[in-house]
Amino acid sequence: MTANSPIAVVIGASSEIAQATIAKLRSQQKVIAISRHRQRHPQPNVCDWQCDYSEASIVAMTDLLTEVGGDINRVYIFNGVLHHSDQFPGKRVEDIDATAMLASFQSNSVVPILWLKHLLPVLSGKQVCSLTVMSARVGSISDNHLGGWYSYRASKAALNMLIQTAGIEYARRAKNVALLCFHPGTTDTALSKPFQSNVPAGKLFSTDFVAQQLLYVSEHVHPICGAHFLDWQGNKVDW
Ligand SMILES: NC(=O)c1ccc[n+]([C@@H]2O[C@H](COP(=O)([O-])OP(=O)(O)OC[C@H]3O[C@@H](n4cnc5c(N)ncnc54)[C@H](OP(=O)(O)O)[C@@H]3O)[C@@H](O)[C@H]2O)c1
Repeated sequence: MTANSPIAVVIGASSEIAQATIAKLRSQQKVIAISRHRQRHPQPNVCDWQCDYSEASIVAMTDLLTEVGGDINRVYIFNGVLHHSDQFPGKRVEDIDATAMLASFQSNSVVPILWLKHLLPVLSGKQVCSLTVMSARVGSISDNHLGGWYSYRASKAALNMLIQTAGIEYARRAKNVALLCFHPGTTDTALSKPFQSNVPAGKLFSTDFVAQQLLYVSEHVHPICGAHFLDWQGNKVDW
């Protein structure tokens, strides 16, 4: 990788939406794909880095990004967990489980904001850059009319607040960076699989479509004080 060639950084790269995004990005530019898992099939123009998302491991990654050099023009953070094989999202208050809730906050809110903590000095500079986290409309407090999914909702709402707050600080310290909380719509991945029967016809999107919308929307955001919260059409979502 040569210095000054634009680089895209994709975190949580094993996500099915991330994989579709990488497939599109790598035809345009170099991609650094970061995941807990090494990708099975190396792809041209993609460097795979492994990270366990401990803070030490995130620091090791951001140090490496500094060493690699080059201008980073896009960062995507895909991390997000809705359910495990033995743990479904709670519908009733009785379903709340402290251990599961803390795990949800760790992967959905804490990991992304740790990245923003350590990426700030790496991204701050002249290169205009978008930094997108995968949020969800269910994390909108004002749009919550259905209830349920306590941990996932709350951890995405926390993510939104963390990114909005970081956006105010980035506007002072990394003016070149636009922050975006992105709602992809219901997308056909393992994450949504158990809930797809409730999705209205035509509203279950392919990863390829969502990746295309994500690239388009993130390319057109500009730095503001605070963060954008936009859906797959580029429409504002209420915080
Ligand atoms: N699919 C949908 O309908 C939908 C709707 C709204 C929002 N979203 C959001 O979009 C994002 C990607 O979703 P997806 O459907 O592509 O999901 P997915 O294929 O299940 O991907 C899961 C993601 O979470 C990360 N992850 C898993 N366990 C983790 C842990 N213990 N700690 C930290 N990270 C962990 C994975 O990173 P590794 O690469 O390290 O494994 C991967 O990036 C998520 O944030 C999700 O909440 C999805």
